[in-house]
Amino acid sequence: MTRNKDSNMYLNFHSKVLCMKEIVMKKADDWRKVYELYSRLSNEDLYLRFFHYYRPSEEEVRKLVTEQEDHITIIAEDEEGKVIAEGTIYDDGEFSLVVDPNFRMRGIGTAMVEKLIELGKEMGLKKIRFYTLPENIPMIKIGKKLGFKLTFTSDEVYGEKPLILERVTSYVSS
Ligand SMILES: CC(C)(COP(=O)(O)OP(=O)(O)OC[C@H]1O[C@@H](n2cnc3c(N)ncnc32)[C@H](O)[C@@H]1OP(=O)(O)O)[C@@H](O)C(=O)NCCC(=O)NCCS
Repeated sequence: MTRNKDSNMYLNFHSKVLCMKEIVMKKADDWRKVYELYSRLSNEDLYLRFFHYYRPSEEEVRKLVTEQEDHITIIAEDEEGKVIAEGTIYDDGEFSLVVDPNFRMRGIGTAMVEKLIELGKEMGLKKIRFYTLPENIPMIKIGKKLGFKLTFTSDEVYGEKPLILERVTSYVSS
């Protein structure tokens, strides 16, 4: 997941933010940091994250992050422990994510989707998928770059990627 970019500054920063972790309620206040991230987002960003106009309440964010029966949530933190990106993948393979507007165009969205792909494999999913709007250039770029098959209609873009599951092959050598 480590990628080389032009400047050392970017490399140092990038290696920090790649310390993403799954949220499994290890720290009681993790959901609050995700709520704070959502609070910094515009209505448009939240629309893109949830695919409808929606500003989740504290209780809804707490549930999303702490009750992980049918989904897994990952976050990226900055050096101070502030949550700067959140991504969630469901057991039907659909995922969505959001990056703090102040931290975009630094590869975090790409790294988050790479991590969601890994998680999808670990979950045993045959494919993972996302929906977005045709004007969401960064998400379309990420989908193309990471090998999603994209289907465009006038009002949405559907991205789907088959996941090749590793198989244990046994054979008898003669
Ligand atoms: C989509 C989103 C997660 C991308 O996050 P990000 O951290 O900026 O993504 P990256 O830095 O990895 O950028 C991915 C690519 O898009 C490009 N890009 C980023 N923002 C761009 C913009 N505003 N215009 C054009 N290109 C852009 C990057 O340069 C990069 O291109 P490359 O692969 O050729 O290098 C972020 O814009 C976001 O949170 N949007 C709102 C929520 C959303 O749309 N979620 C997706 C739901 S499926």
